Amino acid sequence: MNKDDAAPETRLIHTRAGRLGRVTVNPPVERASTVLFRDEAGLYGAKPTYGRMGLTVHRELEAALCELEGATSARLASNGLQACALALTSCVSSGDHILFPDCAYGPTARFCEQRLRATGVEAARYDPRIGAGIEALFKPNTKAVFIESPGSLTFEVADTPAIVAAAKARGILTICDNTWGAGLLHQPLALGADISVQALTKYVVGHADAFGGAVMTRDARLAARIAATSEEWGIGLAPDDAYLAVRGLRTLAVRLRAHEASGLEMAHWLAARPEVASVLHPALPAHPDHALWTRDFTGSNGLFGVVLNPVPDGGMERFFAALSLFGLGFSWGGFESLVIPCDQQLTRMKGSWTEGRAGPLLRLHIGLEAVTDLKTDLAAAFAALSAG
Ligand SMILES: Cc1ncc(COP(=O)(O)O)c(C=O)c1O
Repeated sequence: MNKDDAAPETRLIHTRAGRLGRVTVNPPVERASTVLFRDEAGLYGAKPTYGRMGLTVHRELEAALCELEGATSARLASNGLQACALALTSCVSSGDHILFPDCAYGPTARFCEQRLRATGVEAARYDPRIGAGIEALFKPNTKAVFIESPGSLTFEVADTPAIVAAAKARGILTICDNTWGAGLLHQPLALGADISVQALTKYVVGHADAFGGAVMTRDARLAARIAATSEEWGIGLAPDDAYLAVRGLRTLAVRLRAHEASGLEMAHWLAARPEVASVLHPALPAHPDHALWTRDFTGSNGLFGVVLNPVPDGGMERFFAALSLFGLGFSWGGFESLVIPCDQQLTRMKGSWTEGRAGPLLRLHIGLEAVTDLKTDLAAAFAALSAG
């Protein structure tokens, strides 16, 4: 069969790129800074001439990421935040204006508000549910709009096609953080975005044991700018981490289906609990952006938010102390279930949809444990929460 006609999960398993000679199922990992050449001409010949540019395993990861995101170029970074920073700095320079969503991952928002501003780039927040209304925020010097959908912690879904259309009409670039969509659930490039970024650290690696980031595009001129910026900064990915990302990609589809099924079951169960005011999960019909999610995504995963009803004094401490399966830890996308309180992290604009919420906001990652065990764990924590 022609592999180009195969389903995404088939192509992710069969992408092998840049191998010389003997082919094994998995790519070799060359731990190398120095690359040796037979003659002097090779030293200044075709790249890679140095390990930082990436070797076999990196080429294989880039090729598989292009399959995943429908891209023609993928540039690797050592983590997701660095990939966001690489995409942004490739699109703007001093004197430019950029827009980023109020729901952006905190360190990405900080990069915009502190690092970019320090280099003379004006960075302003927008309401992630603004849609076509973004046009009113454009200035003559607006060069890029950053999108993250669903948003970190608060799970708003962006009307990406409307934002992209408004931006394109003014020659403004769009960059999407597609970590939640992981390429299989959402394809920003197919919706017209110029750049898609992923923290490979999450679902691609999938086992909470490595970092990685990637910047993908279909635009050759933009790809050249991203490559030049990456080389100027010396951005790259360690070969062992690149290997873990390739390995993770092979099972991404099956893991995501399991996270999705368990995530939905837990979301419905939580929505029916008396301690819960609302569940912020875009695949639930009650989510205000459910129609956008249905239109632009092909599935969901294990990450969503929960707004609790008002909690008695000391209730949250008792809740977290009673958990034995859910870990208290940052990150997501691994095989394990996690929960974090979010209120301490929320730095949203006035009028954000979670302002004035009933009680504390939690973020849950539903891992691959048996759902009945996860319900038992949370039920015990809810009992402790109320037992004041
Ligand atoms: C949406 C999103 N983007 C980017 C990142 C950054 O990824 P990394 O931890 O690999 O730097 C994260 C991390 O949590 C994230 O949730």
